[in-house]
Amino acid sequence: MAKIGKTAAKERIEFLKKELERHNYNYYVLNAPAISDFEFDLLMGELQGLEKLYPEYATEDSPTRHVGSDLAPGAKGTDFVQVAHRWPMLSLGNTYAREELYEFDARIRKTVDRPWSYSCELKFDGTAICLTYKDGRLLRALTRGDGTKGDDVTRNVVNIPAIPRQLHGEGIPTEFEIRGEIYMPFEAFDRLNAERAEAELEPFANPRNAASGSLKLQNPAEMRTRGLDCVLYHMLGENLPFKTHIEALEAARSWGLPVSEYSRRADTIDEAVAYIDAWDTRRKTLPFATDGIVIKVNELDLQRQLGFTAKSPRWATAWKFKPEQACTPLVSVDYQVGRTGAVTPVANLEPVLLSGTVVKRASLHNKDQMDLLDIHIGDWVYVEKGGEIIPKITGVDPSKRPQDALRPAFPTHCPDCGTPLVRDEDEARHYCPNRESCPVQIKGRFIHFAGRKAMDILAGDATVEALYDKGWIHTLPDLYDLTREQLISLEGWQERSADNFLESLEASKRVPFERVLYALGIRHVGEQTAKTLARHFGSIDALMAASREDLVQIEDIGDTVADSILEWSASEAGRQTVRRLREAGLQMAVDENATVRLSDMLEGKTIVVSGNFSIAREALKALIEAHGGKNAGSVSSKTSWLLAGEKAGPEKLRKAEKLGIPLLTEEEFNAMIGGE
Ligand code: IVH
Repeated sequence: MAKIGKTAAKERIEFLKKELERHNYNYYVLNAPAISDFEFDLLMGELQGLEKLYPEYATEDSPTRHVGSDLAPGAKGTDFVQVAHRWPMLSLGNTYAREELYEFDARIRKTVDRPWSYSCELKFDGTAICLTYKDGRLLRALTRGDGTKGDDVTRNVVNIPAIPRQLHGEGIPTEFEIRGEIYMPFEAFDRLNAERAEAELEPFANPRNAASGSLKLQNPAEMRTRGLDCVLYHMLGENLPFKTHIEALEAARSWGLPVSEYSRRADTIDEAVAYIDAWDTRRKTLPFATDGIVIKVNELDLQRQLGFTAKSPRWATAWKFKPEQACTPLVSVDYQVGRTGAVTPVANLEPVLLSGTVVKRASLHNKDQMDLLDIHIGDWVYVEKGGEIIPKITGVDPSKRPQDALRPAFPTHCPDCGTPLVRDEDEARHYCPNRESCPVQIKGRFIHFAGRKAMDILAGDATVEALYDKGWIHTLPDLYDLTREQLISLEGWQERSADNFLESLEASKRVPFERVLYALGIRHVGEQTAKTLARHFGSIDALMAASREDLVQIEDIGDTVADSILEWSASEAGRQTVRRLREAGLQMAVDENATVRLSDMLEGKTIVVSGNFSIAREALKALIEAHGGKNAGSVSSKTSWLLAGEKAGPEKLRKAEKLGIPLLTEEEFNAMIGGE
């Protein structure tokens, strides 16, 4: 590193410290990183270098000396109990340079005077988790937090199928910790982001943010739908009977814990480097994200001998993969209007090969992002695959900027209907406010309404376009007024296609309320939110009568969603739509008789549910019904069990005791219906 003057160094150190803290916050708390890991590591490397040169400015609170924190007291969605880690949860030293791997090996040789081996492992790109097992049962799950204390997310973690609540097998220590990574495979990530896009929620930047965001969900039942997975890679405990790390993990595997199948032992650093080289390409075929390779000294006594620095173990290091980037000229920018009026800038690029696919278009997110990049038409731009899937522009190379290059002008008016755009301050997005008559928005609403997850009506883009052009459909209920004659008169339509279409319209009248609610296309009400609302309110009338307070007290309903629902409920268009769709015969309330049957396990049983559980009470009641049982509000001689959670009603408990009605814990109930 080039030497710089003392004053300049001090200033730069201050700047870097602030910058790194800000990025740590974006990454760990908001789950929305503003820069890539690579850029972060560059800044961190610069700070480390400067602190080495000027130790007088290296303070205890420097981000080089502590790990980033995912704790955010007070914020919504973070009301988890914080628990101190028995052993601090540290990070790993990392490198992008091959020589540094050899330096790592040489440093070990200085301390260790006998041969050792390495465990070479994939570096899973998720969020760290620390599990404690006692007497073979999962006792607790903590996030890394700030490294010394983490959030207790046990109630969420029990909903990840890969994590066993009960271990089986030989030699399970009475108590031990095992740490690892919770991650979201690409497939689940794509599904989740598609759902978020539908609900016009900001997509997660990558699978890692999606995983850590999911872990902090307030509604544990929703965890099950997120498709999270887990891999464990570090066992800790007192007097564990293992000589090597690999042996400990093999034992863990035999007890039913998820351990990576890709780890290998290496006897020399050269072998470890060969493992790295092999995975640099092979990792692209994996169904989940990895951001590097971890190399650990395998012998546990040597690990103890080598010990730790303030931030990371001396017996392990991480080789980080450089994100795959391509550089290509920006040809033009399109502005797409979505069904809710949001305007998204999309870059048209000179086609370029990136991780095996040709990239021609990339998202620019919003105007702020364009300003931040200071993007000009003709610029050479860097494209990366966010989470290796969706290409995004991460930077520009101003040195290659053509003379007289112009900044693309963000439109002031809707590209489709010409209405002046408005900006949503909270979301940094621009919207076309002309909901009533902007053609793209209208057509978009019909396409959404007809979609398979919504009303499942046989109307794709072309049909909607044709019906709209004829002037027959403007608001959603117009669909139900279409006649056979009208349809047959459409170009290319025959009696058969018209009848199929009308049949699908007829069938849509039996679509359950939660899907109708989703189909209405209320901003921010995606599939999952619609389910939550339907379950909570039971009918459109109850939802439309809800106050702000009613809405925000529901798990996972925040201010943005609540405001959007209130605005829609109060609008004339919303009311008219509901009135006419109801007249057409659509389901506007939950059909109590139509719940899914999962088993007859609870046939003839009556259960009273009281207290707080790891899932919403309503969800538990639905489960009881799904297994053939009946719910009752009060304890009587006819009650089969009182399902009692935390803070169960004292009156109910007393009555159950008096009548000799057995109590059931949530765990016992789960076991009864065949859950884990
Ligand atoms: S070992 C004390 N092994 O990477 C050492 N970490 O950048 C504990 N990670 O905090 C970590 N895969 O969240 C280890 N095979 C692996 C890993 C791994 C992913 C994560 C972990 C750690 C971070 C360090």
